[in-house]
Amino acid sequence: MRISAPLTVTLLALVSLAALAQPSSKTPAAPQVPPKARLAPPQVAMTPPMGWNSWNFFFGKVTDQDIRGAADQLVATGMKDAGYVYVNIDDTWEGERDANGVLHTNSKFPDMKALADYVHSKGLKIGIYSGPGPKTCAGYAGSLGHEEQDAQLYASWGIDYLKYDACSFIPEVMEKQAPNDKAEQMRIMQAAYAKMGKALKATGRPIVYSLCEYGWDAPWEWAPAAGGNLWRTTDDIQPNWDRIAVIGFSQAGLERYAGPGHWNDPDMLEVGNGKLTLAENRAHFSLWAMLAAPLLAGNDLPNMKPEIKAILTNRDVIAIDQDKLGRQASRGYSEGEVEVWTRHLSGGALAIAVINTAYNGRFASHPFHLSLARLGLHGPQQGKDLWTGKPITLTDNMPIELASHDVLLVRIAAPK
Ligand code: GLA
Repeated sequence: MRISAPLTVTLLALVSLAALAQPSSKTPAAPQVPPKARLAPPQVAMTPPMGWNSWNFFFGKVTDQDIRGAADQLVATGMKDAGYVYVNIDDTWEGERDANGVLHTNSKFPDMKALADYVHSKGLKIGIYSGPGPKTCAGYAGSLGHEEQDAQLYASWGIDYLKYDACSFIPEVMEKQAPNDKAEQMRIMQAAYAKMGKALKATGRPIVYSLCEYGWDAPWEWAPAAGGNLWRTTDDIQPNWDRIAVIGFSQAGLERYAGPGHWNDPDMLEVGNGKLTLAENRAHFSLWAMLAAPLLAGNDLPNMKPEIKAILTNRDVIAIDQDKLGRQASRGYSEGEVEVWTRHLSGGALAIAVINTAYNGRFASHPFHLSLARLGLHGPQQGKDLWTGKPITLTDNMPIELASHDVLLVRIAAPK
């Protein structure tokens, strides 16, 4: 584990204090705890972060009240208990910098420290948003030239998560500093993300670091070294099946880059948004869980329908996402309009997702025959259908009829 310099100094100071406070010979000796174990800073994102983010529903309109409301609702709906702990403010909270370069909030967010305290008082964590450029995507102040100052500011507010969005950095810095030199532009991008990664570490506060540069220049290759805990792999999601399917299925091949502390991010959830059908919401959530994706809901929590809540709080599906091995699913095979993905889980278990990508209410009713042999499985497999909650036995070549954009998600405890 890399430890930042100021943190190392703090740790050394703590170790010396502990040495000074050794018990006298008369006091019974306290159990010996190795200093490293006692002082190890908490790790973040050991499983994919779960929470809610303001962008997909509120976009630029989000206010302090909306964030408090989201925090209240995460508790009231049971989403917090299901694991959704980060309440993340996306773009448009930023105001102006003062003469000392200190960034202030705008009038929608009168007191960020008070807001963070409120969110923390609910047993939740709070996230914020900025970017390496002069401006954010929505045209607010970015962190360019103020990285350390902003990181310290976030830490002083009690921020637990930063989404750092490239946007204006691409035209204003990369392309201006290295016109027509894509390789150099890439190095500039990496350095900018590493700079904020270092600044966050130097605060000594555990802050999840989320890179948002839309998958440019293969961030999965370099984001962990820049301190990143997750990195967007694509351009923005939208609440329609086509976009969700394009993003979800394009994650094939990236699985070897995911693991505890560092995750591919196919973008935030659209469950409950737009005109997605229930099948689409289920398939979207299942696929993201298979992909070990961050589960950041982005829906209108106060008006969430019961069936949407049931999807977002399905404990069995969440357990797939949060499996401690952190192994992202890979494509088993695709055949015609059907995608078959598998994910290895702790304890030797296996999850299988079968998704019908076909349009227009068509059933995958050629019918589709699930090949267990192609998945390396032999003979009947006893599992649990995670959407009906019932036992299911999968057999080789069994016909499976799925409605358009629906999913069969099965967990097999002891695959053979
Ligand atoms: C980009 C990001 C989105 C969102 C907006 C905010 O488009 O990809 O997720 O943060 O910026 O302006």
